[in-house]
Amino acid sequence: MDEPIKIAIVGSGYGRKVALPVYAKLAEFEPVAVWSRQPQRARELAEKAGIGLGTADFDELLSVPGLEAVHIATPVTTHIQFAVAAAARGLHVMCEKPLADSLEDARHIVAAIRTAGVVGVVNYGRRMQQTRQRVIERAREIVGRPRMASVSLVSSDHADPDSRPYTWVHDARLGGGRLQGYGVHDLDLLLEIFPDVEAVAAATEVGVPVRRTEDGELWRVTAEDSYALLLRFRGGGLGVVTLVATARHGRGDVIEIYGDEGTVQLDDDQRVWSGRTGEELRSEGPLDGSSTEAFTRVARNFWAAIRNGAAPEPSLEEGLRVQAVFDALRTADIERRWVRPEPVTS
Ligand SMILES: NC(=O)c1ccc[n+]([C@@H]2O[C@H](COP(=O)([O-])OP(=O)(O)OC[C@H]3O[C@@H](n4cnc5c(N)ncnc54)[C@H](OP(=O)(O)O)[C@@H]3O)[C@@H](O)[C@H]2O)c1
Repeated sequence: MDEPIKIAIVGSGYGRKVALPVYAKLAEFEPVAVWSRQPQRARELAEKAGIGLGTADFDELLSVPGLEAVHIATPVTTHIQFAVAAAARGLHVMCEKPLADSLEDARHIVAAIRTAGVVGVVNYGRRMQQTRQRVIERAREIVGRPRMASVSLVSSDHADPDSRPYTWVHDARLGGGRLQGYGVHDLDLLLEIFPDVEAVAAATEVGVPVRRTEDGELWRVTAEDSYALLLRFRGGGLGVVTLVATARHGRGDVIEIYGDEGTVQLDDDQRVWSGRTGEELRSEGPLDGSSTEAFTRVARNFWAAIRNGAAPEPSLEEGLRVQAVFDALRTADIERRWVRPEPVTS
C-alpha cells in the first residue's frame, strides 16, 4: 500500500466521535492534527488520540509537515472559511454536509477546490449505510417512475428544554437546525434515486423555543426542530420528507418509494422490502445502519480519489445538487410558496 494520507480533523464533535476513530483505524490514513476552538481541549483530544498536534490555530494545523488532507466538521456557515483556506494550501478536502448554508457559498467552496486541483468529497455518508444503499439499489432496479417517495424520522431528543444542551445546532445564524442535520441526508437519498426535482415547498417549526446551555442558562432557539418538505419531480411524482425531533416517542427512519413499476420500503427494524408490479413484497435484513461503517466507506472513497484518481463519492456535484434543493426549500419556507431549485450543472 502507498504511504497513508496524513490528515487533520477540524472539529471536536462528529470529527472526534466518528471521523477521527475511523481514520485512526484505517491503514489508508494517518491522523496528524486536530482542531478545536479551545486550545486546551484540542491538546487533550490530540493526547488522547495519540496525535502529534492539537491546536486552536488553524494556520498551525495547515502547516503540519507532510499534511495532505483535512476533514472539516464545524458549524455549517463556517465550512467555507476552513475549506477555502485548506484548498488554497493545496490540501484535499473532506467537507461535512451540507457544503454550506447557501448555494452561493457552496459554489464558492467547490470553485476553490477545483481551482486548487485537489480532491473534494462531501460527507453524505448516510447514503453509504447498508440499509440505504440497498434501498437505492433496489429502487433503481425496480420502481420505475416515481409516484410517491417519502422519508420520515421521529425522535424525542429535542422534546424538552433540557433534553439536549443549546449549541450552534439551535442557532439559525450558524446554519443550525434539523434540516442541516438530517434533512439534507434524506434529500441526498431521494436525489440519488430521482435526481430531477422541478419544485419544492416547505414548512419548518421550532417546537421547543428555549433550550438550556451546559452552564444552565436558557437561550432562544432559532433553528427548526421539525419540518415537512414537499418535492415535485419533473415528469410526475411527489416526494415527502418529514422530521420531528420533539416527539415523546421516537422511532427509526422509515423510507417508502412507490413507483409505477414497483415498491421499495425500509422499515424501522432496518428491513428492506421490495417487489415489482404483481409480486408480493419480500424482505431482506435487518441490515446494518451503522454510521461508523458508512463513514468508513466514505473515507475509503476519499483515499481512492486521492491515491488512485477514482471519481470522488459523494462528489462535490452531488453536494451542489442537494444544496440547490436545500436553498429552494429555505426560500419556500420563508415565502410560503413553491420554488424551483436552481440548476447546478457543472
Ligand atoms: N455526516 C454526518 O453524518 C454528520 C453527523 C453529525 C454532524 N455532521 C456535520 O458536522 C459538522 C459539525 O457538526 P457537529 O455535530 O460535529 O457539531 P459540534 O459537536 O457542535 O462540533 C462543532 C465543532 O465546531 C466548533 N465550533 C462551534 N461553534 C463554532 C463557531 N461559532 N465557529 C467555529 N467553530 C465552532 C466546535 O468547537 P469546540 O471544539 O470549541 O467545541 C467544535 O469543534 C456539521 O456540518 C454537521 O452537519 C455530519
